[in-house]
Formats: sequence, structure tokens, C-alpha cells
Amino acid sequence: MMGIEWNDIHASPERKRQFFGVVYFFVLTFVTGIIGLFLPIYWILNGNWYLLLAYAAWYYYDRKSPKRGAYRQSIVAIVRRNPMVKWFAEYFPVRIHKTADLPPDRNYLIGSHPHGIIGLGINALFLSDKTGLDESFPGIRFNVCTLPVNFYSMLRREFVLASGYIDSSRESIEYVLRDSGEKGRAVVIVVGGAEEALEAHPGKHILTLKNRRGFVREAILTGSNLVPAYSFGENDAYDQMENPPGSKLRKFQEFMKHYTTMSPPVISGRGFFNRTFGSLPKRSRIDVVFGAPIEVQMNDNPTKEEIAALHEVYLGNLTQLFETNKEKFGVPKETKLQFV
Ligand SMILES: *[C@@H]1O[C@H](CO)[C@@H](O)[C@H](O)[C@H]1NC(C)=O
Ligand SMILES: *[C@@H]1O[C@H](CO)[C@@H](O)[C@H](O)[C@H]1NC(C)=O
Repeated sequence: MMGIEWNDIHASPERKRQFFGVVYFFVLTFVTGIIGLFLPIYWILNGNWYLLLAYAAWYYYDRKSPKRGAYRQSIVAIVRRNPMVKWFAEYFPVRIHKTADLPPDRNYLIGSHPHGIIGLGINALFLSDKTGLDESFPGIRFNVCTLPVNFYSMLRREFVLASGYIDSSRESIEYVLRDSGEKGRAVVIVVGGAEEALEAHPGKHILTLKNRRGFVREAILTGSNLVPAYSFGENDAYDQMENPPGSKLRKFQEFMKHYTTMSPPVISGRGFFNRTFGSLPKRSRIDVVFGAPIEVQMNDNPTKEEIAALHEVYLGNLTQLFETNKEKFGVPKETKLQFV
């Protein structure tokens, strides 16, 4: 109708459920942040000082959680039972593929690539106990790193912690992988971050990784094995406005990133009512492939050369993982992984 593909109100219950899952995820990622920022202002305007003070006291008491492995495992386990995340994963669908075991007698630092617009694949696996992560890697407890800005606004902060996210600082990563003294822990870092989100165009496989060695250093400092993971299809879920390096749009985005730590990609997927245009992701499959762990020796004081050498090995293994799996997941033979 009118040249627009409208969402089908006669879709099967299964598809409706999946769509509901996507809307739920959208509310979590965007709407909770906005509510969390405006609620305190609303309280102030209405003179609800006692609510504000009570929250401030809680915030102070709980301030270390983002750097101390998030909330307790028992709380995270309850949040991960939420069936809506499974519906969300089925929408694309998101599938997990492992190429090797991760024995639980060690710790792991997992690099997840590419970031995509919002990391749909890795988040769908992590946020639910029904999307295959736990079955694939028994005995491993995962924490995904996210930008500290996600712990600033109220309610969103608590939700993110209860889901098991930790902040992406060194202190936070070192706590989980070393200072906790536990084994069978895995920290996932979406290494390319906000900068790589600006490279998330359909059919493109460009990783902001050439000069990012901090995660390799953390692996050495904590003696954690490095695991590369690649999400095929991650970049296909949204269209993004052209923003080649040097363009006006890219310059503006880099300016924003510099001041807010967040980059604003100009995206389009599908809408709530309109299948042609909107901010929800498109239905396109995402296959997350976990590579084999790279053995890392613990060292409190690695040299630049040692870090660079391990970084080289990691890039090589990641390229290998991409090459051996790409055609299975619809990437043309001639497409190469690029590091910038
Ligand atoms: C649906 O998308 C088209 C662009 O493809 C746009 O022109 C139209 O305004 C959108 N309609 C709604 C209701 O969002
Ligand atoms: C990683 O790369 C190194 C060489 O750079 C190689 O020896 C090793 O077998 C690779 N590991 C995997 C799992 O591909």
C-alpha cells in the first residue's frame, strides 16, 4: 500500500512473538536510558526529594558494582530466564557456532567482532540462558563489557548490572579475570567499540583493530586465553547512511564520539508499523562463530613487543576464522576482512 511494505497484522503468532522480542530489546537499549535520565528531573520538579535522596544513597552504596563483576550470579540467572530475549534472538535468527571447547579450569578474554550498530548477536547470546551460550560452553560464566556511560542513568544502570554487564575499564576486567581468584570466567570485549559502529554497513567487514592492543595486554596481565569471535550478518541488520572517512558526517560523528564517548550512526532498519523504514533491525540471520582459544602466559610486565606479537597472532587467527567460515554464512569468496 502506498509503496510502503506495512507490517503484516496476520503474521503467525511465532513471528508476532519475535517482533515483540525486538521491540522489547529496543525499549531496553534506548528507552530505559531516556527514562533514567528524566526521572530524577521529574522528581526534583515535583519535590520528591526523599526519592532522590534514597536513590542517591543506593547509588553510593552500589557504586563499585560495574567494576566488581556486576551483580551476583543468582540475580543474573533470574534476569537471563526472560523468554523475550529468546524471541528476540529467533527474529533474526541469532545462532551460536563453536569451533573448540573452552575448558572451565581457566579464564578467557573473548574479542567480539564486528560491533555492528548495537552488537545484536553477542547481546542476544549473552542476555538469555536459552540462546545456546551456556550449552556451548558449560562451566563458563560470561560478562560482557559495556561503556561506562551505560552505568550513569538510574534504572538502566541496575538493569545492565543485573544482566551481568561490567564496565570496560582495566580495573573491571582485571577484577573478573584475575583479582576474583576464580576460574571459568570469560570477559567479552567488543573491541572495535563505537568507532567500529561507524563502519557497520551491509556487506562490509571492516574492523577497528589494527591499533587496538589494550585487550591483548589485559589478557597477558591476567593470564587469560584469548578467543576471537566473529558475528556474520551483524552488519546487515541495519542500513547506515554513507559516512566515508573524511566526509562531513564522519567528522561530526567523530566529534560527538570525542565528547560523549558514543558515536551516532545514522541508521535505518524497519519500523514498528512500517517494514520499509525505521529504527528496528531487519530480519537477517546473524551467526556468531567462536574460535579456538589462544594460549596466553601470565606476565605482570609485558613488553610492547610481546603485546604486539600476540596481537599479530590474534589478528591472524581471527582472519583464519573469518576465511574458513565466511562462505557458510553468505559472505562472497572474494570478500576480505579489513583491519583499520
Ligand atoms: C514508511 O517508510 C517510508 C520510507 O520508505 C516513509 O516515507 C514513510 O513516511 C514511513 N511511514 C511511517 C508510518 O513511518
Ligand atoms: C593461531 O595462529 C598461530 C600462528 O600465528 C598458529 O600457530 C595457531 O595454530 C593458530 N591457532 C588457531 C586456533 O587457528
